[in-house]
Amino acid sequence: MKKIHLFGNWKMNMSGDETDSFFRSLSEGLGAISEDVNMAIFPPSLYLERAHRAIVDMGIGEKVSLGVQNVYHEDKGAFTGEIAPVMALELGASFSILGHSERRALFGETPDFVGKKVSFCSQKGLKPVLCVGETLEERDRGEAWTIIEDQLNQGLLNLQDPSSLTVAYEPVWAIGTGRSASPDDAQEMCSSIRGWLDRRYGAKKIPILYGGSVKPENSKDLFSMEDIDGALVGGASLDPKSFLKMAV
Ligand code: PGA
Repeated sequence: MKKIHLFGNWKMNMSGDETDSFFRSLSEGLGAISEDVNMAIFPPSLYLERAHRAIVDMGIGEKVSLGVQNVYHEDKGAFTGEIAPVMALELGASFSILGHSERRALFGETPDFVGKKVSFCSQKGLKPVLCVGETLEERDRGEAWTIIEDQLNQGLLNLQDPSSLTVAYEPVWAIGTGRSASPDDAQEMCSSIRGWLDRRYGAKKIPILYGGSVKPENSKDLFSMEDIDGALVGGASLDPKSFLKMAV
């Protein structure tokens, strides 16, 4: 059985109290999950410490890790509103999502800027989760692979050691829309990403996740595909029951 990586991206959702109750319910259901599942939750960074405390108090740190949704590529300085990888590590995070399509589309993050963050995070010991994905217009124009290849080229330009890397393929048209890519379409793109990573780094088995409207109803079919090693889940990660269902 391959390892499945089930990552929950809460985005700008959940309160402090909801964070506590999420981890309480999660810990009650963890006994039933498969040995082969690695879970990580990415709460808003203000609740990282609270989430970490819940994980420690409930003794579930072996099965559940934490991550941040974004960081900046400096240790400190005049960067109002930004968070350094060392700060996230101090609060219990082990991963950072980088280059999520919402950061690219709404906050103007370019492939080159994302690349700076990927290599900096990895140097600091915060494991990068690089998100790549095309819009519907790009897909319809037949440019999906060109876009993703550019996001990989620039995103991983300075990352020499890929041992802490995870890549998430998230077609923009499938995020938050309820319209997931079909397992075959997702597999086709993940297989191209696998080929690119193997050429760049050698066959290192870097985890490749699919993201975009993943839920209990479609997760098993997606996970059965050869080059899909798990999912980055948004909406369905806010409810511990639906998140757990994807892990059994
Ligand atoms: P979704 O979000 O599962 O709500 O489509 C996925 C993501 O943005 O990572």
